[in-house]
Amino acid sequence: MLVPVFSGTAVREAVPPLEAYDAVRDGFVRHARGEWTMQPKVYVANYPAGDFRAMPALGGGHALLKWVTSFPGNPARGLPTVTGLVLLSNAETGELEAVLDAAAVTALRTAAAGVVAAEALGRAGGSTAVIGLGVNGAETVRMFRARGAEPLVWDVDPERLTASAQELGARPAESLEQALAADSVVTVTPGREILFCLYRWFRFAHHRLISPAPPARSSLRLDSRPSLVAPVASLPALLSPGRGRNDYCIPYEVCGTPPRRSCPDLARCNRLL
Ligand SMILES: NC(=O)c1ccc[n+]([C@@H]2O[C@H](COP(=O)([O-])OP(=O)(O)OC[C@H]3O[C@@H](n4cnc5c(N)ncnc54)[C@H](O)[C@@H]3O)[C@@H](O)[C@H]2O)c1
Repeated sequence: MLVPVFSGTAVREAVPPLEAYDAVRDGFVRHARGEWTMQPKVYVANYPAGDFRAMPALGGGHALLKWVTSFPGNPARGLPTVTGLVLLSNAETGELEAVLDAAAVTALRTAAAGVVAAEALGRAGGSTAVIGLGVNGAETVRMFRARGAEPLVWDVDPERLTASAQELGARPAESLEQALAADSVVTVTPGREILFCLYRWFRFAHHRLISPAPPARSSLRLDSRPSLVAPVASLPALLSPGRGRNDYCIPYEVCGTPPRRSCPDLARCNRLL
């Protein structure tokens, strides 16, 4: 069996940033229309070293599998964080048609996804920033610039910040805070540190409790881990039979930027704790 193999260089030469942007945007739209399907990504974890990710999809006459890694400690060994392959098959015959370098495909896709999101969700004409200037962050800066934006850039490594900003023709931020203050921020770091932990605020999680009275504030244990709903410590005691049902919005503490809306059920809640 003869299958063409496209190296990272071949992928980059064949797909300039703006073509990748158009392809990724079109892919999102087609996926939303149900023309593409994407099965859940499978993580094969080998932490703390890193993980392998298997990402299948079907659409456009093809089935494909991206087998890609994330080993954030690799740059210290002179190895890339992200490596792998994309296997592209014919969806009608099942035949394998091509093998592509996954790092190059990933960088183009990740950059395009960040820029599409910033354009779709951000304020029109608003400021942008990219935090983390490794392989995928640098590609994101190139993509922003190809789309006419001038993102501020930031990296925790001062040498990387200076060298990358110069190479990419981008303006380095004076501080992390300055970068985080941009209207749209694309973060492309290994995610070990929480970048947006500048604010502490409360979201509200909607709960239906069986109780005539609201649980006391003191019975709530607020958990500061992001996205974790604070459990109600005395919940079993509240669930005594024969009592009425009540809706409550229970606050839980998170790190991050405040959302425009909190619990979507807030309006029809009996009580706000
Ligand atoms: N979700 C996705 O679609 C997707 C796609 C590609 C990559 N990734 C992930 O993105 C991350 C970056 O990938 P990469 O290939 O660019 O890695 P990389 O190792 O080439 O670059 C990471 C960069 O982030 C910088 N950095 C680390 N901690 C930082 C911090 N706290 N603040 C600012 N900068 C910081 C490093 O100095 C480095 O320049 C990896 O964890 C990778 O797995 C996710």
